[in-house]
Amino acid sequence: MTNLNQISRRDVLKLMGLGAGSLYLSACGLLPSASADPTAAPVFSTPFTPASDLPLLSVDLTAGRGALPIFSGAETSILKYQAEVKEGGGESIQTLSDSYLGPIFRVKQGQRVQVRLNNELPDPTIIHWHGLIIPEAMDGHPRYAIAPGKSYDYDFQVINRAGMYWFHPHPHQLTAPQVYYGLAGLFIVSDEEEAALGLPAGEYDLPLVIQDRIFDSQNQMVYGANGMMDAMIGFLGDTILVNGAPDASMDVKASAYRLRLLNGSNSRIYKLAWQDGTPLSVIATDGGLLEKPVTREYITMGPGERVELWADFSGRNAGSEMNLVSLPFTDFSGGGGMMGGGMMGGAGLPNGTPLDIVRLRIGEKGADVTPLPSQLSTIERHDVNNAVNRNTPRSFRLAMQGMVHTINNRLFEMDAVARDEIVRLGDLEVWEFVNLEGGGGGRGMGMGGMNMDMPHPMHMHGVQFQILDRQIARGFESAYRELSSGFVDDGWKDTVLVMPGETVQVLVRFENYTGMFLYHCHNLEHEDAGMMRNYRIEG
Ligand code: C2O
Ligand code: CU
Ligand code: CU
Repeated sequence: MTNLNQISRRDVLKLMGLGAGSLYLSACGLLPSASADPTAAPVFSTPFTPASDLPLLSVDLTAGRGALPIFSGAETSILKYQAEVKEGGGESIQTLSDSYLGPIFRVKQGQRVQVRLNNELPDPTIIHWHGLIIPEAMDGHPRYAIAPGKSYDYDFQVINRAGMYWFHPHPHQLTAPQVYYGLAGLFIVSDEEEAALGLPAGEYDLPLVIQDRIFDSQNQMVYGANGMMDAMIGFLGDTILVNGAPDASMDVKASAYRLRLLNGSNSRIYKLAWQDGTPLSVIATDGGLLEKPVTREYITMGPGERVELWADFSGRNAGSEMNLVSLPFTDFSGGGGMMGGGMMGGAGLPNGTPLDIVRLRIGEKGADVTPLPSQLSTIERHDVNNAVNRNTPRSFRLAMQGMVHTINNRLFEMDAVARDEIVRLGDLEVWEFVNLEGGGGGRGMGMGGMNMDMPHPMHMHGVQFQILDRQIARGFESAYRELSSGFVDDGWKDTVLVMPGETVQVLVRFENYTGMFLYHCHNLEHEDAGMMRNYRIEG
């Protein structure tokens, strides 16, 4: 078991090395490499029970370098997944031209998917299918990371309900830079229940991936220029990109749209709203459709979270615009200017800075609008009384210790599972994330007199969960209330934002596969710095 006394000087230097990440593309190898054994060939014996006669989808994804004209002038060096469909392609794979973002998978529940990942990066990599419930060898644990030149074969059946999932690299200590330089894609699942609703489809189904970056005067992405500050707080950019495009605007028709939002940023939190104050109609979260649409004045999205909106522009005039913005809120890592980057220079915009996200320019009349159904799906609510640990939640204390964030005083260890990280297949449990030890708040200051209270978007692999309860500690309420009415906790989730001072309880059933899975903070710099652990589902 690692505790902080065991964090060596080398680990600290590694963290600082993370800060040299802007060298990543040019001087790869400076970054610590994953310790997975590249010769350890994955062994699969996934027992498939093809639930249907749906066609097999087989795709090669090559992770490699590329360049794109993102701005006028010099092209931007990027990393990208190139897709090559081997079988069952058709409409299942949508490539985004002019974007570093990976292809969009569009598959049906029950479909079998084979992916060969070819690593043409200068560093180890592996793909994780965020939100999908698949066997452990398919899940992209960092111990399966493959060396440059190697490949990894995925073969799984999609058992998730309809929803927008996504995929991204997951090699130890390299997830954040690899995502940052462009490696991420969407994995959209549909099912029959959803199809029967007649929701906006085709051109009216619009995924919007929101990310932030910093570009230098040569149009190159800059990562980690603030060294350890970035590792502690998380990367914050100064330029918002939607689907890989800065200053994004899109032409839409006067019709209803299904807008599928992913916060694909490394660490930024958004408070999304329509600029004109139109309420947002939310129809889905991480794990798919809500039972009923809900309305929000704004929605709060932490990294890794998804939200789907139903937006009806049919009554709007041609030539008008609907602007999605991020509203201002108080920065929690409240050292203010210090943490906001004043000290280090060249930093991005602090969390809470008001931002333009995307401009939708409304044009001609589009397809007739089918009214949004009042019932979208049924969600069987877990009952806390059925939880095996209902009186003693499995508790995870999130804390700032030294220069890293820990979970129950531990950092990530590649193969370790502690005794309190073992669960039983079939059990329903209460998991509790407790964010009271940021070092700031009412508890005095952390690092060098700076307040390090930070939100942690906590993510679990291998499951979808339901949110049971949120409690905010005294002294943290006012900052909390600037964001808390934007949470959408009604549906299935795989990532939940745990605010400073907050305790969030979730109900989770480990019902599908045994094996070792991860839970971690989806602030990717926190994750890379070790705010991640294994848990094991035992049969
Ligand atoms: Cu999207 Cu383990 O993460
Ligand atoms: Cu995940
Ligand atoms: Cu975190």
